[in-house]
Amino acid sequence: MACDTFRDTEVLITGGLGFIGSTLAIRLIDLGAQVTVVDSMIPEYGGNLWNIEPVRDRVRVNIADVRDEHAMKYLLRHQDILFNLAGQTSHLDSMEQPYADLEINARAQLSILEACRRYNPDIKVVFASTRQIYGKPAYLPVDEAHPLHPVDVNGINKLAGEMYHLLYHQVYGIQTSVLRLTNTYGPRMRVVDARQTFLGIWIRRLLEEQPIVVYGTGGQVRDFNYVEDVVDALLVVALAKEANGEIFNLGHDCPVSLRDTAELLIELNGKGTYQLVPFPAERQAIDIGDYYGDFGKIRRCLGWTPSTSLQKGLRHTLEFYERHAAHYWPSAVAV
Ligand SMILES: NC(=O)c1ccc[n+]([C@@H]2O[C@H](COP(=O)([O-])OP(=O)(O)OC[C@H]3O[C@@H](n4cnc5c(N)ncnc54)[C@H](O)[C@@H]3O)[C@@H](O)[C@H]2O)c1
Repeated sequence: MACDTFRDTEVLITGGLGFIGSTLAIRLIDLGAQVTVVDSMIPEYGGNLWNIEPVRDRVRVNIADVRDEHAMKYLLRHQDILFNLAGQTSHLDSMEQPYADLEINARAQLSILEACRRYNPDIKVVFASTRQIYGKPAYLPVDEAHPLHPVDVNGINKLAGEMYHLLYHQVYGIQTSVLRLTNTYGPRMRVVDARQTFLGIWIRRLLEEQPIVVYGTGGQVRDFNYVEDVVDALLVVALAKEANGEIFNLGHDCPVSLRDTAELLIELNGKGTYQLVPFPAERQAIDIGDYYGDFGKIRRCLGWTPSTSLQKGLRHTLEFYERHAAHYWPSAVAV
């Protein structure tokens, strides 16, 4: 990617104070884009003002809710690209508070697209969807043609969100693209609890010298993506005309079991333990078993491939939280 490709491009990132959104904002600002982030900063979600610390004087921050149609209408005007990343991400919360998930992950997506259609039809929109919409895999690796059987409310609402994006391309010609993300990790992820990813709470417990808790046998397989690789994919898709109206899986070509992941983390940390415990009933009910994706389509069409090994990505992540823990969980001591 030429380094001035995004220079002076007006970019809006919903969920831009969250994990992936803030990492994307930092990269885009380094590439010369004019970036506005919009985030509701609801405490249970992943937003953290400290996430944008490296660029805080160069980014416009708007604390607003994507459910606020008037705010979104105002914010979307004059933007060249929308990275639409705001979302309720907790699977368990989506079962306990299903209407909040519906409002954010489905209804607000429709109103964002309506605002694009009415006030900025030339905008490019990249939507962050999730592999959760596939449900329990019928085969592995899971490609984009795999049946869609979400196992929780979050999966259903994210599926609606992505279908609205595709529909607005098909019917109104809005340039939309969908990325189905798999488990993403790295600096700036939420580690205070397991709401965003279990890897977050694993890292916190490791650094607090508590055992990592692994549910089930630990044999469950995942294909983790390091956040900078996901940012690469978001940028590549934003630039590619041939990505309009398309869905792309992300993934990694080295799937790994949760047990091996816990062991690797402990090895990188130089100390620590993990324990296998039975799944709590509410988690078991929405568990998807093994998952890894086939990301051949985005590799073939757009040349994206993840370049960060799990070992390297986890090392960077551990180093980040060793230095900055105090900004991510209340009881951590500032260093
Ligand atoms: N991290 C992953 O492993 C993963 C996997 C699959 C899909 N995704 C998707 O990627 C996107 C970004 O996820 P993330 O991991 O950065 O999570 P995150 O929670 O760190 O980021 C989401 C951001 O959206 C904000 N937000 C939530 N509701 C909002 C609202 N109503 N109005 C405005 N802002 C709101 C949150 O405050 C948060 O900052 C999400 O849409 C998520 O579904 C993430």
